[in-house]
Amino acid sequence: MILVTGATGRVGYHVLEALADAGADATAMVRVEAKAADLPGATRHVVATFDDPPPPEVLRRFDRVFLLSPVHEEQAALEIVFIDGLVAAGHRPRIVKVAADGFQDPDCDVRFMRSHRQVAMHLDALDLAVTYLAPSIYMENLAGDAETIREEGTIIAPAGRGRVAFVAASDVAAVAAEVLTSPGHENETYVVTGPEALGYADVAARVSAVFAREVGYVNERPERARRSMLANGMTRWLADGTLEQFEWIRHGGASHVTTAVREVTGTDPRPIQDWLSGQRETFLVPPADLPPPLA
Ligand SMILES: NC(=O)c1ccc[n+]([C@@H]2O[C@H](COP(=O)([O-])OP(=O)(O)OC[C@H]3O[C@@H](n4cnc5c(N)ncnc54)[C@H](OP(=O)(O)O)[C@@H]3O)[C@@H](O)[C@H]2O)c1
Repeated sequence: MILVTGATGRVGYHVLEALADAGADATAMVRVEAKAADLPGATRHVVATFDDPPPPEVLRRFDRVFLLSPVHEEQAALEIVFIDGLVAAGHRPRIVKVAADGFQDPDCDVRFMRSHRQVAMHLDALDLAVTYLAPSIYMENLAGDAETIREEGTIIAPAGRGRVAFVAASDVAAVAAEVLTSPGHENETYVVTGPEALGYADVAARVSAVFAREVGYVNERPERARRSMLANGMTRWLADGTLEQFEWIRHGGASHVTTAVREVTGTDPRPIQDWLSGQRETFLVPPADLPPPLA
């Protein structure tokens, strides 16, 4: 039986869908009981958190664990407490851990990748069977640009001319589901990317083409980006981490494209225009809670 953490999130939800399609026996770990009602299929669930894991007798039911935790200042600590809970239960399941592309590069000093590296060192020390998925940046992150795309026809980011091999969360999930349900992936690291590396000007051009409206890219200065992230309520830790990530992007860190999706799943990864086509409401329609325009 497979335990799926992060089950209500962008990747985890698709993992449950893919496991249901494969007829696999999955249980979702949810923090809030009510959220289990929205999970796909007839997924079973257990209510727990990383820092308050299920009891040992429950943990021992799972021979495979999909490990995905949120981007958070305490991310490494949360995952380590949970992993220690598994081991303390006298249990050594196979783990499929979502990290992030760059975590495997000791020179990548982005804090998000450092957190994943810290967890990996802990897993190494425990000598557990682990498969790492190291996705590139999710296409879903572009939803954060939807407001300026809708209102001003711009994507504003401190990305310079850096290119990113954006990947759809559903492709990361498809790789995860395959790895969870087939043998031979232990001790592998799959860098999971989309089919091409795009600069933000290229992304703007694809948005223009898909939605038939003019969208441009504005290369923002990092200090200005930081001010607007903080003004929008982002924590300093997350804003500074996001700027580290953009610096890494500007220096080409996120640009390499791999064939992992095709190799593991047998299917090509989604091109960005395909993902965008499914996001009409996000990129075109104003939010419903805005007052109607004056006559
Ligand atoms: N964003 C990117 O572009 C990108 C790229 C590469 C890798 N990654 C990695 O992907 C991961 C994030 O994936 P995602 O975007 O799918 O996540 P997400 O949508 O933010 O979902 C996070 C999940 O974690 C759960 N969660 C939060 N706090 C928890 C806790 N204390 N205990 C147990 N569960 C908890 C959430 O549950 P609730 O619904 O209850 O909140 C939710 O299911 C991160 O590790 C990140 O480094 C992200």
